[in-house]
Amino acid sequence: MELFKEIGGNFPLDPIPDQRSNHWVEQVGSSYFFSSGRAAILAMIQLSNAAGKKVALPYFTCHSVIEPFDRAGCELLFYPVNPHLRVDEMTMIEFCSKEQPFLLLYHDYFGNVQEEIWKELWVAFQDQILFVNDQTHSFFGDNESYAHFSLMSMRKWGAISEGGMLRVPSKMSFGFDYANRLASDVRLECYVQASELKLEYLNNDQSKEKELFRKLFYQSESFFDQEQEVYPMHPTALTAWRQLLDADFRQRRKRNSLILSDAWSVEWNIWGEPIFDASSTAVPLYFPILLKVERKLFQIFLAERNVYAPIIWPKSSLISIKGDDVLYNQLICLPIDQRYGESDMNRLVCILDEFHNQLDR
Ligand SMILES: Cc1ncc(COP(=O)(O)O)c(C=O)c1O
Repeated sequence: MELFKEIGGNFPLDPIPDQRSNHWVEQVGSSYFFSSGRAAILAMIQLSNAAGKKVALPYFTCHSVIEPFDRAGCELLFYPVNPHLRVDEMTMIEFCSKEQPFLLLYHDYFGNVQEEIWKELWVAFQDQILFVNDQTHSFFGDNESYAHFSLMSMRKWGAISEGGMLRVPSKMSFGFDYANRLASDVRLECYVQASELKLEYLNNDQSKEKELFRKLFYQSESFFDQEQEVYPMHPTALTAWRQLLDADFRQRRKRNSLILSDAWSVEWNIWGEPIFDASSTAVPLYFPILLKVERKLFQIFLAERNVYAPIIWPKSSLISIKGDDVLYNQLICLPIDQRYGESDMNRLVCILDEFHNQLDR
């Protein structure tokens, strides 16, 4: 029987791991593994003694990136990012000189890297400011990272129940005071059950399982919000990560992104524009577009056709200053991950064309 096909949505574990690993690995070389990106940030705050200090974060970022700094009593500063997900070199030099933050964190959005600018800033300020590169979007690129610490959330790239990686300067070595590991097991169980349900409803297109799956998946995610300490990464999740690294996911993502990019009609630009040239991104996480129509309507239009386009990111309540909210209001991501191939991307292109045609009417 043909699988009922969705594009996008959470990755289910497939196959469900029956051989659970009990071999906890907390460190390989200068990389340390934690339960989440948040936990990696928290560990980095502890290592660098950043608690209570002035930290500079991009105005466009994820709530869970800001939250550990806020909890550590840091003074939060936000530097501007334009609607093309770029920082401006002069603005950043002035910002760093004037504000002199203790730490500055930056993203390479969707794998598209501003290498020259970060190199310049690194050369100019590396002795005064602690640079942190959040590589969640760019981990699989081959660019240089100009930072004292780099870190990432590992769950975004595949069926990985949890994970956060922190790379420390190679001469450093640390022992972390890890919290109780029980939450990891409970979360994995939740994720396994959610995956079983998802695979079942994908087979049968049954909405009852879909609702239950959503609940369980949400529950497995909600553990991260409750964690206030540094947890290690569950060994089964680390095994899944290593299996991912062996798989052909890089080429598939790249290919899917290029299919959308090649098919993007200039006429479609009246309602939405791809932010990056797909050929300039090493391994893309998503295909981000900036919409010129009501985002909710576009998202619902796709969802009614079983395409789930995530919003990255909703604006955090921890951002108290006023800035340019174009990205928070108009950015949407099309899924291009390794679960999909050419026929799925062609289906997505037809749906985008249908969206375009119904706008004309
Ligand atoms: C760029 C980026 N860094 C870090 C995080 C935090 O990761 P986690 O959800 O694993 O705590 C996120 C979360 O979405 C993120 O998008």
